[in-house]
Amino acid sequence: MLRLAVLVSGGGTNLQAIMDAIDSGKITGAEIAVVISNNKNAYALTRARERGIGAVCISPKEYESREAFNEAFLAKLDSFQADLIVLAGFLVVLPEQMIKKYPNRIINIHPSLIPSFCGTGFYGLKVHEAALARGVKVTGATVHFVDEGTDTGPIILQKAVEVREGDTPEVLQRRVMEEAEWVILPRAIDLIANGKVSVADGHATVRA
Ligand code: GAR
Repeated sequence: MLRLAVLVSGGGTNLQAIMDAIDSGKITGAEIAVVISNNKNAYALTRARERGIGAVCISPKEYESREAFNEAFLAKLDSFQADLIVLAGFLVVLPEQMIKKYPNRIINIHPSLIPSFCGTGFYGLKVHEAALARGVKVTGATVHFVDEGTDTGPIILQKAVEVREGDTPEVLQRRVMEEAEWVILPRAIDLIANGKVSVADGHATVRA
């Protein structure tokens, strides 16, 4: 069983999609060992607890410095001995030590087709605002491994979503979640759990 640590900051709809996929058998060979949030009010924590999954909060506000927070965060994460760390709407810049410690063992869901609308400052609704401002006709979501850069790691899965006339950022965000994020994040976890994803020369290869 692959042990997952799912890191969240907000509503947790992607966490919900993972839990539902485990329940329905769309994800096999993986279990959620813990859900960790930086925000004690994250509804994602409630979703986890309602399903009987351990949920903890480590907030930067409780630490004197970023270094102290990073150290405590990493120690907490390590204590769960996760095989795979899933960033499911986790809006904290990861400590460098964490990225070094878990090479090709951290994945992230991003709400655009990388390399469009990604990098520093592109998160949540801002991504969809930027896509609409540019007038793109197709957007989507990407699951990728996390490396030292922002949204630069090997791409595992992507799914395109149509932009429609009159879309607001909120409407587009919802469509990207429903049609892409909640589909490809659970699928990527299932593929990894079943040994179907490998990484070489900075590229991920998926065997169907
Ligand atoms: C999702 O849309 C996810 O793609 C995005 O945050 C949202 C979290 O929603 N992540 C990023 O923008 C990362 N750069 P959720 O809490 O309902 O899963």
